[in-house]
Amino acid sequence: MAEKDSIVLTFDVDSDDFTRAGEASSRLKRTLKQMGLPPDIIRRISIVMYEGEINMVIHAHGGKITVTVDDDAVTMVLADVGPGIPDVEKAMQAGWSTASEAVRQQGFGAGMGLPNMKKNADTLEIDTVVGVGTTVTAVVRL
Ligand SMILES: Nc1ncnc2c1ncn2[C@@H]1O[C@H](COP(=O)(O)OP(=O)(O)O)[C@@H](O)[C@H]1O
Ligand SMILES: [Mg+2]
Repeated sequence: MAEKDSIVLTFDVDSDDFTRAGEASSRLKRTLKQMGLPPDIIRRISIVMYEGEINMVIHAHGGKITVTVDDDAVTMVLADVGPGIPDVEKAMQAGWSTASEAVRQQGFGAGMGLPNMKKNADTLEIDTVVGVGTTVTAVVRL
């Protein structure tokens, strides 16, 4: 039997543009609502997407997000060519942040982004190389 086609959505995240930070996650949220996904699933996807997007803006000079909606899961691949993460285990700890004072004054940098992504995704994978970039792959099962 033929499977339903997956839907692929792509989002460019601008570098260091705080005024537009969160735009990609808002757009995805609207699209998922139109598709009729359950509110709790949309809430979890939006948290993962928002935190990943903000990280790209404040830590990695932007990047590209690809979201694939299948019958059984939503997969978010957040790819950047930023500085990479030297110690992923540390970065995953609640409250740990390298955000600058300027970034904190904008209301970001509480060090809760990656832990919240982990909590809300069914799986979270971080591929990172210092000086090359970071790709975070998060899956929320439907
Ligand atoms: N895409 C990324 N590129 C480089 N470093 C990152 C990226 N995402 C997260 N980090 C690092 O992991 C730390 C923890 O991330 P997070 O939990 O989201 O906290 P916060 O963004 O508030 O600092 C960040 O302070 C940063 O050092
Ligand atoms: Mg963060």
